[in-house]
Amino acid sequence: MKLFENHNLKTYNTFGMEVFARKFVEIETAEETPAAVAEYLQQWPYYILGGGSNTLFTKDFDGTIVHPVFRGIERMEENGDNVLLRVAAGEPWDNLIQYCIRHEYYGIENLTAIPGLVGSAPVQNIGAYGVEVKDTVYKVQGYILSTRNPFGLSNADCRFGYRNSIFKQTLKNDCIITYVWFQLSKRKHFTLSYQGLAKALEERELPLTLHSVSECVRKIRDTKLPDPKIVGNGGSFFKNPVVPVEQYQDLLTQYPDLVAYDAPKGLKKLSAGQLIEKAGWKGKRVGNAGTWKNQALVLVNHGGATPNDVLNIADSIINDVNKLFNITLEMEINRI
Ligand code: EPU
Repeated sequence: MKLFENHNLKTYNTFGMEVFARKFVEIETAEETPAAVAEYLQQWPYYILGGGSNTLFTKDFDGTIVHPVFRGIERMEENGDNVLLRVAAGEPWDNLIQYCIRHEYYGIENLTAIPGLVGSAPVQNIGAYGVEVKDTVYKVQGYILSTRNPFGLSNADCRFGYRNSIFKQTLKNDCIITYVWFQLSKRKHFTLSYQGLAKALEERELPLTLHSVSECVRKIRDTKLPDPKIVGNGGSFFKNPVVPVEQYQDLLTQYPDLVAYDAPKGLKKLSAGQLIEKAGWKGKRVGNAGTWKNQALVLVNHGGATPNDVLNIADSIINDVNKLFNITLEMEINRI
């Protein structure tokens, strides 16, 4: 373990916010985790930080940030059709994608280029281009902070939902994830339900391989989403709102081009990006913060923005979308 005091978090959050943590602890091996739990995760406030790609630090953190950095991808079991991988929490997500492409394991290629670390992936059930990580998570291992006991949760135990899981509900602030197990397929198959992906593959006349699908996803992301290394951002700032079908139909009379997807329980999931665009916010800049020109759902730090600059824009967006559509957008990003 490494302990730093009054540590600058600028390079630990993709928004690039310059805030300081009173204490910052790096856990360097999975075996050190129980000791870190005992020493640093018994006294509030604390925060477990992965890649910082879904976190907006709103001010200096007067507590301890715990940051697992241990890596590793292990093949635990293999049969004719499937492989079981155990991946350490600190492994960068895109490294796992590259590993799976090299070994021809199918299932997560649509999640190419999502920033962040493997340990955070089940927390908000990362998803893109028709795939969610819940489709391949076999189990999640870690420690409960209040009891200091190890846990192992099956896929069903994780209670995954759209950008949601038990780790954002009953286990919020009460667990640290050490390993995520994935069950992946050795049989060639793809998920091409996202229209833009099938179209991009067709247009480029690429053969259907893990590599080509992954590269197409990367290209689509490049056109829509800002590279956090260049323009600070935390991906989608809001969740796509889920509304009753009657409300969607009412809105359609006024906005016939409204995008909607079927959601569980007969509900409709609308596109927050489109609502924000219709509210006049796409590509808008206020001081050093704004929304991205190609995807209004992404709030950006153009350089030197403060957390309040971003939060003020978020508040204005929530108000304007609410006035126009009577829908209250919910933040997807963690505000700390
Ligand atoms: N749209 C607009 N204007 C915009 C943005 C989008 O009209 O400014 C429309 C698009 O034209 C499209 C629809 O909205 O018809 C959906 O847009 P897109 O495919 O870009 O996806 P999204 O629903 O905005 C979600 C995820 C993304 C993920 C993409 C692709 C959430 C909150 N976001 O965005 O995830 O990459 O689908 O599957 O569910 C993230 O979570 O950080 C993230 C980037």
